[in-house]
Amino acid sequence: MAGIYLHIPFCKQKCYYCDFYKVVSPKLLPDFISALKTEIKLQAGYLEKEQIETVYFGGGTPSSLSHAQINEIFSELQNNFQIDAHAEITFEANPDDLTAEYIAELQKTPINRISLGIQSFFDNDLKRMNRRHSGAEAIASVRRLQEAGYENISGDLIYGLPEQTSEKWSENLKLFFDLNIPHLSAYHLTYEKDTAFYKMLKSGKLAEHADKKSEEFFTTLLDLAHTNGFLQYEISNFAKLGLHSRHNSTYWTNTPYLGLGPSAHSYNRTSRQWNKADVKHYITELYEGKLCCETEILSKADLYNEFVMKNLRKVSGVNLHELESSFEESFKKIFWESARKYQASKHLEINKDSVFLSRSGMFISDRIISEMFYV
Ligand SMILES: C[S@@+](CC[C@H](N)C(=O)[O-])C[C@H]1O[C@@H](n2cnc3c(N)ncnc32)[C@H](O)[C@@H]1O
Ligand code: SF4
Repeated sequence: MAGIYLHIPFCKQKCYYCDFYKVVSPKLLPDFISALKTEIKLQAGYLEKEQIETVYFGGGTPSSLSHAQINEIFSELQNNFQIDAHAEITFEANPDDLTAEYIAELQKTPINRISLGIQSFFDNDLKRMNRRHSGAEAIASVRRLQEAGYENISGDLIYGLPEQTSEKWSENLKLFFDLNIPHLSAYHLTYEKDTAFYKMLKSGKLAEHADKKSEEFFTTLLDLAHTNGFLQYEISNFAKLGLHSRHNSTYWTNTPYLGLGPSAHSYNRTSRQWNKADVKHYITELYEGKLCCETEILSKADLYNEFVMKNLRKVSGVNLHELESSFEESFKKIFWESARKYQASKHLEINKDSVFLSRSGMFISDRIISEMFYV
């Protein structure tokens, strides 16, 4: 079992919070598709003939592709990989791209799950983030998808936005749950270096929320998700029973995945590989039949760190039998030192089979995970 991620690095404009790799000019799109098809062929052996259970078109903005381009890419995948007949095939879309005509085109492709970047339903938030759509457009795009028969829909929301109040965050969640879609990814805003928001923060035009406020947003998220019948399965991900993202779950389990396109990462249990974040370079290299990735063979310490990071992000936590059978004493010693410390402060819970984050632990997960790392 394995997954494939395709990075489509084209956006019509740059959102002020986002540091994912993208370019705004569509000029290179046709050459990018040729290069992507070459990369698919060259990487056909990476997953060692494992059955592909999930394919994820991410970005950037995959909804800048036409249905013909999606099918062209997908055919190349089918020619080179064994894609399961029931594979989950996700497509990230921006609400303003999802016109009735575009959805009709999507129906001619094998895509069976849509991940929609909603971020907020408030137009002043959207404007401030430099999003291209309004809240009403996001709602209308969900309705159109549902009318066309798409049920497996996910929405992204960002909280901790500048000047966001608890009431506005609750209202955003209420509007989300009213849409009757089965999956939610909700991320606290991070001020990433090299973004417009980061510059505004540094020049004092924006202010970060105090930790206490952020924790209140997170508590509201967990409570409202629970009340609305959503199960949290990872720090930022919630789904109706059985409708979790199978693809994202590959990242948090030990499942191999291949990332294609500029900036995409791959993992095959023994090594990590990543493509340079530069679409021009990507096209030039692949035109000459060369891959443009760097590879790192994972040491025992890297494998242990990956294990802790991936498993602690899941609500089910670290499986202790797996920890016991997979790692040497030196790693387990570090693990248990931090685990006991954070158990005492009630950030971690421990039972006979697993160690997992409590609510308050989820809120400071990055700190706990980095302390458990073997350095
Ligand atoms: C790579 S983006 C692609 C989605 C799609 N292009 C769109 O904009 O709708 C995936 C998601 O990551 C989240 N995200 C990106 N940057 C973030 C940041 N700095 N803080 C919090 N969430 C962020 C957003 O919710 C976004 O929808
Ligand atoms: S959030 Fe999406 S649309 Fe906005 S810049 Fe990032 S990838 Fe592009």
